[in-house]
Amino acid sequence: MINGLNDLIDIRKKRLPDINARREKPGAAPGWQVLVCTGTGCTSSASHQVREELARQVQLKKVQARVFRTGCFGFCKMGPLVVIYPGQTLYCLVKKEDVAEIVEKHLLEGQVVERLLYEEPASGERKRRLSDIRFFRAQHRVALRNCGLINPEDITEYIACEGYFALADVLLNWTPVQVVDAIKRSGLRGRGGAGFPTGRKWELAAAAEGPVKYVVCNADEGDPGAFMDRSILEGDPHSVLEAMAIAGYAIGAREGYIYVRAEYPIAVDRLERAIAQARQYGLLGRRIFNTNFDFDIDLRLGAGAFVCGEETALLRSAAGERGEPRPRPPYPAQCGLWGKPTLLNNVETYANVPVIIREGPAWFASLGTENSRGTKVFSLAGKVLNTGLIEVPMGTTLRTVVFDIGGGIPEGRQFKAVQTGGPSGGCIPERYLDTPIDYESLKQLGSMMGSGGMIVLDETDCVVDIAKFYLQFSQDESCGQCTPCRVGTRRMLEILERITQGKGEMEDLNELEELSREVMDASLCGLGQTAPNPVLSTLKYFRDEYEAHIRDKRCPAGVCRALLDYVIDEEKCVACGLCARECVAKAIMGEKKGKPYFIDRQKCLKCGACLARCPKGAIYTA
Ligand SMILES: Cc1cc2nc3c(=O)[nH]c(=O)nc-3n(C[C@H](O)[C@H](O)[C@H](O)COP(=O)(O)O)c2cc1C
Ligand code: SF4
Ligand code: SF4
Ligand code: SF4
Ligand code: FES
Repeated sequence: MINGLNDLIDIRKKRLPDINARREKPGAAPGWQVLVCTGTGCTSSASHQVREELARQVQLKKVQARVFRTGCFGFCKMGPLVVIYPGQTLYCLVKKEDVAEIVEKHLLEGQVVERLLYEEPASGERKRRLSDIRFFRAQHRVALRNCGLINPEDITEYIACEGYFALADVLLNWTPVQVVDAIKRSGLRGRGGAGFPTGRKWELAAAAEGPVKYVVCNADEGDPGAFMDRSILEGDPHSVLEAMAIAGYAIGAREGYIYVRAEYPIAVDRLERAIAQARQYGLLGRRIFNTNFDFDIDLRLGAGAFVCGEETALLRSAAGERGEPRPRPPYPAQCGLWGKPTLLNNVETYANVPVIIREGPAWFASLGTENSRGTKVFSLAGKVLNTGLIEVPMGTTLRTVVFDIGGGIPEGRQFKAVQTGGPSGGCIPERYLDTPIDYESLKQLGSMMGSGGMIVLDETDCVVDIAKFYLQFSQDESCGQCTPCRVGTRRMLEILERITQGKGEMEDLNELEELSREVMDASLCGLGQTAPNPVLSTLKYFRDEYEAHIRDKRCPAGVCRALLDYVIDEEKCVACGLCARECVAKAIMGEKKGKPYFIDRQKCLKCGACLARCPKGAIYTA
């Protein structure tokens, strides 16, 4: 039980040598420490088996080593990941069968298992140390500071990393007004999408009247492909709990709720454990640090509807009602959960708070750009060599992210665009690659920061198809309350569908633009207000691709199936007839062992079966 700062300091002192060893600082604990990632990505490729086998063999062979679980390192593509200290040796794609060799060679003989080291794709060089890998080198981790470093299931490891010291400081030495002021001065803006100034939001919630107020954390994370918030919750859950308690003190609330989707079982489990441990240590509950401040946190599980991430819908859903947005004002700061003043922030926003208090607002404000301070976590996906979770200072260029950290486009293909902001964002073409990443710059380009999805597209991606994908998502996820959103997005989708089928007309492009304006202007919530962005941005930067689909009945990327011609290469065809037998449409003609076969375009259904069947690779799409 922690009664005061001294108890916290004692725990920190005890566990610090282990953390020093992992940070490669003086005062490190002796012996090997083996860290195994247990985030969702690595768990799904059986990292638990690796961890259990490591623990078993270490015991069996009486090795001077301890095995720890950690959260996500961000390099999930290479998982299961194992990192060994001292030496910060990173092993990739580790299987249970590799464990014996790691124990024998690395832990007993002190040598490196070369074959499990990461190989830089460009140079083919094997990198031993985690920090030597380009993917990690250009990053700056603030929100992700403890992910991959500490055991998220052990509160003492968080305390060893100065966890709960910000809360102690605030409760013992600061006034609530000073806390709000520090958040304001830091320049932190909401990481959930809109980028609203966090300090201003705290100020409004603090100024709201009433004896009962709430602090809520938005961990709904509905954007397809995004996993920033999940990784923070899985890798460092206490940072969010600590921040929520600080927020509670700042605005005068005694209760907090984390709204997290039930499809995140590891995150939910880690949060439950973290809350239980924090209560056990007296860091949540009554009279925290022996002050008059009481604060506790509970979970609310969401069913995973995208619209439930919208703040007013989330608050309704958390209160057990239907998760539908309502008009604002009143804002949650005045009328939120159960009608009471409520402060609502995103997971990553909260994760920054304890560091801002500890290191000072000026330190945080020194990172990033004039109007977008600090760092931002992105989930980098699509056509880049190094996909994964990254954190960079605001103002880093898109080029650095795609080509330096991401390692560029695989197989020597051409970069086409980078899609940011998920369903609310847009596609940014090559000529803007040197744009610094910040809220305003991305918006100016017709895209958005959003919550941090970043998908790289190359020449084999069709932008019309991408726009259709996101619009389909918004259409499916619309709650249907307002007609422009419900019907407008459906009309837009029908037009896009026609275009990808080669049935589009040039007037369709104007109609898409008009509908976009109407949907954006007349929708009640952010979903409808931003749903047309993927269409508008692709129309703006890649109009020629839309025109190729309409005028030439051609998909330049070779994606839209209805627009592809299946052709047989006469040079390669050996007239075996296998393709003709596969074709249900009887569209392939020829004589066995005779002249090359050919495809009748009129009859072809474009099913692709012949292409898959040809043993000579003689069939291609044009
Ligand atoms: C359709 C829709 C979905 C949203 N989904 C999320 C989400 O999953 N997570 C999140 O933090 N914010 C989401 N937001 C933004 C929230 O409404 C809100 O602005 C945010 O949680 C506030 O926290 P912040 O100021 O820390 O960003 C969504 C907004 C809309 C319109
Ligand atoms: S804009 Fe769409 S999702 Fe938002 S309230 Fe209206 S219908 Fe529902
Ligand atoms: S694509 Fe399908 S329908 Fe067309 S020729 Fe090949 S097998 Fe026949
Ligand atoms: S399967 Fe290939 S090689 Fe055989 S007839 Fe068809 S195109 Fe020619
Ligand atoms: S889940 Fe293991 S590196 Fe991301």
